Amino acid sequence: MAKKNKKGQWGSSFGFLMATVGAAVGLGNLWGFPYKMGKGGGFIFLLVYLVLVFLVGIVMTLQELAIGRKSGKGVLYAYKSVDKRASAIGLFGWLSPLFIIGFYSMLGGYTIKYLAANLGDLLNTSWGINGMDSGEYFTAFYTNSYESAVYTVVFILLIVFIIAMGIRNGIEKFSSVATPALFIMLIIVIARAVTLPGAMDGVRFMLVPDWSLFTPKGIINVIASAGGQMFFSLSLGMGITVTYGSYVSKDDDLQESAVLIPIADTIAAVLAGFATIPAVFAAGLDPGQGPGMLFVTLQTVFASMGAAGPVFGLLFYFLVFIAAITSAVSVMETIVSTTMDITEHHLKHTSRLGVTIGCGLFALIEGVFVSMDGLGSHGFPQIFNQSTWLDTFDLLSEGTLMPIGALLASILFGWVYPGYLDDEISLGSRGGRVLRYFNFCIKWIVPPIMLMVLLGQISAFFGLKWFG
Ligand code: PHE
Repeated sequence: MAKKNKKGQWGSSFGFLMATVGAAVGLGNLWGFPYKMGKGGGFIFLLVYLVLVFLVGIVMTLQELAIGRKSGKGVLYAYKSVDKRASAIGLFGWLSPLFIIGFYSMLGGYTIKYLAANLGDLLNTSWGINGMDSGEYFTAFYTNSYESAVYTVVFILLIVFIIAMGIRNGIEKFSSVATPALFIMLIIVIARAVTLPGAMDGVRFMLVPDWSLFTPKGIINVIASAGGQMFFSLSLGMGITVTYGSYVSKDDDLQESAVLIPIADTIAAVLAGFATIPAVFAAGLDPGQGPGMLFVTLQTVFASMGAAGPVFGLLFYFLVFIAAITSAVSVMETIVSTTMDITEHHLKHTSRLGVTIGCGLFALIEGVFVSMDGLGSHGFPQIFNQSTWLDTFDLLSEGTLMPIGALLASILFGWVYPGYLDDEISLGSRGGRVLRYFNFCIKWIVPPIMLMVLLGQISAFFGLKWFG
């Protein structure tokens, strides 16, 4: 029997897959992909996205799973175990989730608020939306710092509870129910969305290829946009997949998982498109992305559905809540796992409960701070040319540390230590062709694409329009 990770191990391959797919499928799938696909050339965007998933997504997922399982450590010590100089990659992978956890929890709190509001409408109580304009309702909510902070705190307490229960009894048990439920709810919402009168315009917006983008410059833009989206959607470059990989049994086939996870994530993103965009068009609204699309546009759609509105609203925001919480759990577990390694290393002792509570407190402080900023509505001083603290934390993580970390990791395994992961990748599965494919892509394809993603992110955050 192969050596087990002291922190724990997944009980089954199914549980591991559900946890990892749940981690990948998050707000990015729901509010980023459908819109970017519509704007980025429809079917062409989808094709480019799929090619990138095969050349970069699968390869990076395999790399992260393999270094996690090989080292049996959280992200910091996982990369340090390869080479001391690679500690920086691990450090970035530990800092990114520390930046993300606060704002992601605030957004998770928003989903609880909307669950409550739609339930209130369904039961005809005073805490429903009660016919108020969706835009005004959303503004009234997020500018009310205290209310937003309370929902953030509730969301963080839920995550902390799941993490404190442990890998098998907490994360795995929860995800094994939540992730399949998410897919089932998506299908139900799609059935309603595409049968609304006028919904086909939305389907057309998403799918019809825009051949005018078929110029060299157009294609580069599509690659930068699709690459950035894929990278965020698979949560690459921030230790999540490394952490979850460190709990995988040595008997499991990493190659199979590395294909299934990105494919399931892509299917979820396309399904999310069919669940949202047609309904937006049917209601005569314009699609957009980000919080506005989820909490204003779609709430307007539910309001226009009459008596059935709150039922679909409840179902939909429950879906968004599940997508957010399984992702937030993975972010928190990445922090906790690495912090457990650090305490173990320095104090020769660690406790999941103690570390979870400590990291939970950190998340609470950050989450309350981001909530009090109220999406920049309270005149807090802002930095780095951003207009909200959500954007600043997002810039530091998704905008810089994550793509730099992923770029460096591909250089590490493609150029500095080629073949380092070969034995781990072949354990319990085939070697040969897959290894050649992996080593070719991580050397020649991943680094330039990650560089493009990095430039694309910087350009987007600072409004530089390098990619049109
Ligand atoms: N992968 C998640 C999504 O698609 C986003 C995410 C990225 C969550 C990084 C946590 C950390 O929404």
